[in-house]
Amino acid sequence: MDGRPIGMFDSGFGGLTVARALIDLAPHEDLVYVGDTGRYPYGPRDLDEVRSFAVQIARWLIDEIDVKLIVVACNTASAAALDTLRALLPVPVVGVIDPGVRALAKATRNRRVGVVGTVGTIRSGAYQRAIGALPVPVELVPASCPGFVEFVERGETRSDQVSVLAERLLAPVRDAGVDALLLGCTHYPFLARTIADVMGRDVVLVSSADETAFEVRAILGASEPPGVGSGALQVFSSGDVAWFRAVGSRLFGGELGEVGRLTWPDPPAVAEAAPGARPGAASG
Ligand code: DGL
Repeated sequence: MDGRPIGMFDSGFGGLTVARALIDLAPHEDLVYVGDTGRYPYGPRDLDEVRSFAVQIARWLIDEIDVKLIVVACNTASAAALDTLRALLPVPVVGVIDPGVRALAKATRNRRVGVVGTVGTIRSGAYQRAIGALPVPVELVPASCPGFVEFVERGETRSDQVSVLAERLLAPVRDAGVDALLLGCTHYPFLARTIADVMGRDVVLVSSADETAFEVRAILGASEPPGVGSGALQVFSSGDVAWFRAVGSRLFGGELGEVGRLTWPDPPAVAEAAPGARPGAASG
């Protein structure tokens, strides 16, 4: 039995959708969540830069928290850094892209699907490659949705402005006749009602959160009892912690408790990152 916590990170609040799914599926696992709100959004950034952030956070989770597994609860970071993290780190690393594609393949009937994500995720081609690797041909209509993450980070998930933006960005995907749409950004499930209004009732919205949680449980052995911790959730943010706690609790649908503050030094280039780059100060 390995009582160490699971580590999880995202650029901000989005990964809380994955945290929620994991807590529901494995309620006895302890979880340490890092929301890198001091450096969000990741979506418009260069993928090399996102990769260096991901390595830095993952190293901190291993060196300071001693996690047994890391969940990259961010599509942009998964697209940029998953292979690097798996090569560098001594613990299993789970991303959200392959679980999302598996869920999407299960949901579609007409084999024409959409994926929406950040500019970085869509431009990386990670979804295009993952769908191309499916055993049956599936036609993909990808679309990046700049602006969605900012609405979520402001806690603004239902407003006229976000509806107008959603109509503009999603209409081409809807009009292409997809029957399933993958929310390829962990922030987007918070906009599910707005997105569903645009896509219509016949399009199934798919999130990678549940499938990712299943993958974590499978890696941990799916053994019973599931986990030996107390189900504690510890949250850290590199931004304003009071704000993270307030908005995060609302989005998460439950109290996040005290949020610890992380201050990062400039991240090292990935090649130099192996020994670890620790934050200048961290308090629980
Ligand atoms: N939540 C992240 C994702 O899944 C990215 C949000 C951001 O742009 O920082 O892609």
